[in-house]
Amino acid sequence: MFVLYLLPTVYSVGYLQKLYLPDPGPESFAFDLNGQGPYTGVADGRILKYKGPLIGFVEYGYTNPNRPARFCDGTNRTDLAKICGRPLGIGFYYKTGELYVADAGLGLVVIGPRGGPGRQLVTSAEGVPFGFPDGIEVDQETGIVYFTDASARYNISQIPELISNKDATGRLLKYDPKTRNVTVLLRGLSGASGVAINKDGLFLLVTEFVTARVQKYSLKGPLANTAQVLLNLSGSPDKIKRNFVGDFWIALTVQSQEPTPAITLQGQKINGNGHILETLTFSPEFNSTLITEVQEYNGALYLGSLYVGYVGVYHRIWRI
Ligand SMILES: *[C@@H]1O[C@H](CO)[C@@H](O)[C@H](O)[C@H]1NC(C)=O
Ligand SMILES: *[C@@H]1O[C@H](CO)[C@@H](O)[C@H](O)[C@H]1NC(C)=O
Ligand SMILES: *[C@@H]1O[C@H](CO)[C@@H](O)[C@H](O)[C@H]1NC(C)=O
Ligand SMILES: *[C@@H]1O[C@H](CO)[C@@H](O)[C@H](O)[C@H]1NC(C)=O
Ligand SMILES: *[C@@H]1O[C@H](CO)[C@@H](O)[C@H](O)[C@H]1NC(C)=O
Repeated sequence: MFVLYLLPTVYSVGYLQKLYLPDPGPESFAFDLNGQGPYTGVADGRILKYKGPLIGFVEYGYTNPNRPARFCDGTNRTDLAKICGRPLGIGFYYKTGELYVADAGLGLVVIGPRGGPGRQLVTSAEGVPFGFPDGIEVDQETGIVYFTDASARYNISQIPELISNKDATGRLLKYDPKTRNVTVLLRGLSGASGVAINKDGLFLLVTEFVTARVQKYSLKGPLANTAQVLLNLSGSPDKIKRNFVGDFWIALTVQSQEPTPAITLQGQKINGNGHILETLTFSPEFNSTLITEVQEYNGALYLGSLYVGYVGVYHRIWRI
């Protein structure tokens, strides 16, 4: 590693490892305080925990406390989201070990520190029910939970309609566990899919899938409680996750028409000023029509998608 600092140009190539799941659709990931995981929510409503190559994935929890397990286990049907649950964004609050979940069918849910059944916290804000809860971020300093509703009008079974109608009913929301109050921070968002807080708790970055951009919402300072467009992207962003340095990885699905219609799945690393620091392409090895998350953990990049049956783990090989 030492040599990297001395030589001028460093670029990376990598290889993709696949952690196979008992059910498809690992939308996003979390790691616990002990570094165990990844944890991920899948299509049948369960949240699974990876216990290493010998054991693989085991059940950790589920969002609907009355989930009929025998009916739901193994399903890949999004229309059952209200019955089986459909965990999308997940994030631990390390002080309590609780796992917060943005569930497409059940709203904001919390699972206790030992896993098992979830507890539904909120399903609406300002009287408007959530249609498609999607991204989540827990502020580790305050315990406040930030999450997105991708749309108030369309649900997870209606993604094509959400996109073709350029829906703009998405919202950025804040849940305070002390008051159990939910507040709308931003409205009129177009496919609000991901949210991440910066290292110092100064701002949030919010991705919009339909308008292909990132907005910056200030939490503190002179611009507090206002947002501005930080960056227009070359594709549709889903989740955004901060890495240990404080930069952010965006999962990006790029559609092109020339020379033939193609989909490229990428991860794009940006900083808090909206500068693109790195772009990596994971397709065709990561073979899907959508990438939902790129999360950097312990040097590897964890790749999620609604439509694959494994967790992608991209390992970089540094070349000079
Ligand atoms: C989504 O909305 C449609 C139309 O209202 C409805 O038929 C369907 O059951 C809903 N799906 C989910 C997962 O809630
Ligand atoms: C909850 O939030 C609303 C506005 O979003 C505010 O009017 C109300 O005072 C808050 N309640 C508590 C208990 O903080
Ligand atoms: C993003 O694109 C919009 C519309 O083309 C443009 O008005 C805006 O200045 C752009 N913002 C940034 C930060 O590039
Ligand atoms: C990707 O998946 C499609 C359909 O599922 C398949 O036809 C194609 O061969 C796969 N490509 C690669 C590179 O694995
Ligand atoms: C799950 O369902 C989606 C949507 O119908 C489909 O694209 C995908 O291939 C399915 N995944 C698996 C592993 O069966």
